[in-house]
Amino acid sequence: MSHTPVLELSDISKSYSDRQVLSGLSYSLAAGEYVAIMGDSGVGKSTLLNLIAGLDSPDSGEIKIDSKILPVEDEAATILRRKYLGFIFQAFHVLPHLTLLQNVSLPLLLNHLSLDRAPAMLAAVGLQGREQDFPHQLSGGELQRVAIARALVHRPRLILADEPTGNLDQDTSREILQLIRSEIKANQASAIIVTHSRLAAETADRILVLDRHGLTPISLENRK
Ligand SMILES: Nc1ncnc2c1ncn2[C@@H]1O[C@H](COP(=O)(O)OP(=O)(O)OP(=O)(O)O)[C@@H](O)[C@H]1O
Ligand SMILES: [Mg+2]
Repeated sequence: MSHTPVLELSDISKSYSDRQVLSGLSYSLAAGEYVAIMGDSGVGKSTLLNLIAGLDSPDSGEIKIDSKILPVEDEAATILRRKYLGFIFQAFHVLPHLTLLQNVSLPLLLNHLSLDRAPAMLAAVGLQGREQDFPHQLSGGELQRVAIARALVHRPRLILADEPTGNLDQDTSREILQLIRSEIKANQASAIIVTHSRLAAETADRILVLDRHGLTPISLENRK
């Protein structure tokens, strides 16, 4: 296995107008590592994931994915991100005019991969038989599961998940977390999962807390 970090954050700062959200944040994520990030509402967790996903740029500092700095507005960088990343957003971003099967097939199509895995992935999140449904026919939790299937279907190297179980009941949460973890481990992928849920965080290899000082690991003794 390669020792090159999958993700390297060096001295990242980000403000919105006069509000400093992230300041001098550094972190390195190893290949195959699955971490959970917890922290108070508004502390900058989604902001951090958005920066890693290239949806926004830091004011200063450097983000390297697979040892490369990826400019936000750059076609080659977009293609690499599309292949390399699987992103489960806090708001689902499921495309309303596409069926569930088409939504989940999209990352495969865009990456020129076989579409075979799409129906299997929908079945894995418990939506077998709903392939031809449209997003408006689904509950919030079902939509969340479509978003999860879509984020995992192309076996990304780095999975970024923002409250992936925020809309799910406890049993479904448990199943989905198990699925996310087994996908990560089967594909030797890395993942960052942002969550307020202890149950979700404890499926990760490590738990980090984000506050104004940066990312701090919670030691195992403090884990309940
Ligand atoms: N596009 C934006 N424009 C202005 N302010 C923003 C923007 N995005 C985020 N913020 C502000 O940055 C801070 C961090 O927001 P962020 O969404 O990263 O928090 P969070 O840790 O994900 O919170 P939550 O747990 O509630 O999801 C908040 O004060 C928020 O209001
Ligand atoms: Mg958030």
